[in-house]
Amino acid sequence: MKQICLSQPASLDQLKLVTSSEPRRPGPGEVLVRVRASSLNFHDYAVVVGRIAAADGRVPMSDGAGEVVEVGPAIDTPAMQPALAAGDRVVSLFFPRWQDGAPSRAARIGVPGDHIDGYAAEYVTVPAYALTRQPKGYSHAQAATLPCAALTAWRALIVEGPVQQGEVVVVQGTGGVSLFALQFAKLAGATVIATSSSDEKLERLRQLGADHLINYRTEPKWARTVAELTDGEGADHVVEVGGAQTLVQSIHACRTGGHISMIGVLTGVEGKISTATIMSKNIRLKGITVGSCRHQLDMIRSIEANALQPVIDGHFPLERIADAFRHQESNRHFGKIVLDI
Ligand SMILES: NC(=O)c1ccc[n+]([C@@H]2O[C@H](COP(=O)([O-])OP(=O)(O)OC[C@H]3O[C@@H](n4cnc5c(N)ncnc54)[C@H](OP(=O)(O)O)[C@@H]3O)[C@@H](O)[C@H]2O)c1
Repeated sequence: MKQICLSQPASLDQLKLVTSSEPRRPGPGEVLVRVRASSLNFHDYAVVVGRIAAADGRVPMSDGAGEVVEVGPAIDTPAMQPALAAGDRVVSLFFPRWQDGAPSRAARIGVPGDHIDGYAAEYVTVPAYALTRQPKGYSHAQAATLPCAALTAWRALIVEGPVQQGEVVVVQGTGGVSLFALQFAKLAGATVIATSSSDEKLERLRQLGADHLINYRTEPKWARTVAELTDGEGADHVVEVGGAQTLVQSIHACRTGGHISMIGVLTGVEGKISTATIMSKNIRLKGITVGSCRHQLDMIRSIEANALQPVIDGHFPLERIADAFRHQESNRHFGKIVLDI
């Protein structure tokens, strides 16, 4: 079977297509999956360029979707999902060990494509609990966009928000997380203020349902515009994916008593912020790392009920994984980039 492996020191030029032996037969509690698609996340990019350390030979990519080929002997543990069978269409979990309840240190260990081998492979043998069903009617490519980007947006707004009808949500840029956040916010009946560095992308955001648009290149102090658009009050929720350089604006853009979902690090991991403003505005600043199996199952039901379609920018074959990451690196994409496997 074919798979992609990292060689250290990691870089895009070090992503190697390897033909390896047949996949391992599933043991007790495991399933063998024919992977059909994966999708790129900023996290995967950080792994393949060496910003997040991974073992030599690691198979990258945290997202995977495909069908079950073979089921190993069952193990007698309580499971929150029906037993899998050959032919079932499945999608991966970012945190396989986080099944339910509050996040814990132990639940955050075992991320595919990082701590353990991921989904840039034709076949994987994984514990059944590392997978959920796909939304009915989804293609494998659509399903592969969900485990990291969509679930993070879902948790930020629906679980942790939780966003209410008529509230105002700010989403930043046009990457995977932000476009799912826009879609979930609109499903919840919110008003969405969306930012982008590109006027052309802003027009596409409008077509997706964004109510107000801000070009953060031409308006670097975009919190002022958010204030104007909200009669001086500010937004109820800010989905913060920029990190160090955008948090200052997010704090100013947030209303008193509002909520900032601290998700991304696109502009860096450390910065200068006004802790006094967070305090005086009574802002709830909540760190988010993706979500649990329970969250993913809830999100899938909502996707089905609302016929939500992910925004896919384009597809690359597995063999062109480095080109796919170069496309992501260029920031020309709008939504998710898919790897067909
Ligand atoms: N904590 C978690 O659980 C979690 C989960 C998923 C992702 N993340 C993080 O969230 C961030 C986004 O991830 P992603 O996969 O959605 O990335 P992505 O698809 O690669 O998003 C890139 C887009 O972000 C926008 N952007 C870049 N700099 C920006 C800025 N200063 N202000 C506003 N937007 C900016 C750009 O949009 P325009 O071209 O429109 O300007 C760019 O196209 C990353 O830092 C990632 O690590 C965290």
